[in-house]
Amino acid sequence: MLVLGIESSCDECAAALVSDGTQIVSEVVATQIAKHRPYMGVVPELASRLHVELISDVVANCLLKGGISKRDIDAVAVTSKPGLVGSLIVGVNFAKAYAYAAGKPLISVDHILAHLYASQMVERLDYPYLGVLVSGGHTLISVVRDFNDIEILGSSIDDAIGEVYDKVAKFYDIGYPGGVVIDRKSAEGDPNAFAFPFPKLDPKLYRKYDMSFSGLKSAVINQKGKFLKAGAQDTIVNLCASFQKAIIGIIFDKIRIAISETSIPRVCVGGGVAANSLLRNSVLSLRNEGVHVSIPPIRYCTDNAAMVAGIGSEYYSKGLFADMSLSPEPRVDRFKGFIRKQSN
Ligand code: KG4
Ligand code: ZN
Repeated sequence: MLVLGIESSCDECAAALVSDGTQIVSEVVATQIAKHRPYMGVVPELASRLHVELISDVVANCLLKGGISKRDIDAVAVTSKPGLVGSLIVGVNFAKAYAYAAGKPLISVDHILAHLYASQMVERLDYPYLGVLVSGGHTLISVVRDFNDIEILGSSIDDAIGEVYDKVAKFYDIGYPGGVVIDRKSAEGDPNAFAFPFPKLDPKLYRKYDMSFSGLKSAVINQKGKFLKAGAQDTIVNLCASFQKAIIGIIFDKIRIAISETSIPRVCVGGGVAANSLLRNSVLSLRNEGVHVSIPPIRYCTDNAAMVAGIGSEYYSKGLFADMSLSPEPRVDRFKGFIRKQSN
């Protein structure tokens, strides 16, 4: 079984060929980071235009690299949701045309489920497992019951964790992508230099595993003058380290509680922020407590097509195909929205 995966939901234009669900035959990722850097964030219109320019070559090069001809592919899997609408349109339409021309089935892939599946390609984890997604657009803790079946325990009620990293870095003008820069600078700073608030959500209004990051973001941003007045050479690295300790603390706290309360001793972390050194070390340390931890290698944490082809192989095995009416869904409410409990 050979599945071609196509990913274009945000700013990476990627294709991968995966054989038998886990063997990556070839992959190509055309990153747009340099093009968005001047704006210190992804510019949606620019991203979709770049996908249009890149996608044919990315897919052609992926086949060339793998020495594979169109004929040898069994199916075409594409990210169809959630993501930037313009970017998704390019990938979905390309995949539809490609599958149609090659006479191969089309598979629709959910980007969130693909991130939560990524580590499965390296190491099989028995279902159910706790699936933690930390990316630029989403933050959630779920119980993954199967490759296409997750129960969301909680999610961010405001900003996504990666979004906060990127906004803080933009505000302090320290580089792009923010998460990568802050993580690097944190290594040189003192995580105890500044104390930031730890959010407490009203249990009458929110689920136990819901999280909030915007208060922390405001605390870091609004006191820029105060922090910089501290004046010491190492203020920025100390700020990065203290912020990182606080933000990773919020999610790690929830992960620990979820493991103990659900009694599921298996956890997988996916999404761009799963590349973060503090989060990786914190989650990996749970192995000492008997928890089975699975985190993909860094290149499979950020957006890639191998995870799309990987999960696509599961759909292929079950005969779960899309048809030519497939259209992109930029927002999936159950991932983004939070449930506000009714107060009496
Ligand atoms: O999963 P991803 O590639 O795209 C989305 O689906 O959103 O995640 C991108 C996010 C960005 O916010 C980026 O700053 C963050 O992942 N990121 C990191 C690190 N590497 C990437 N955040 C913290 N630490 C990192 N090392
Ligand atoms: Zn992603």
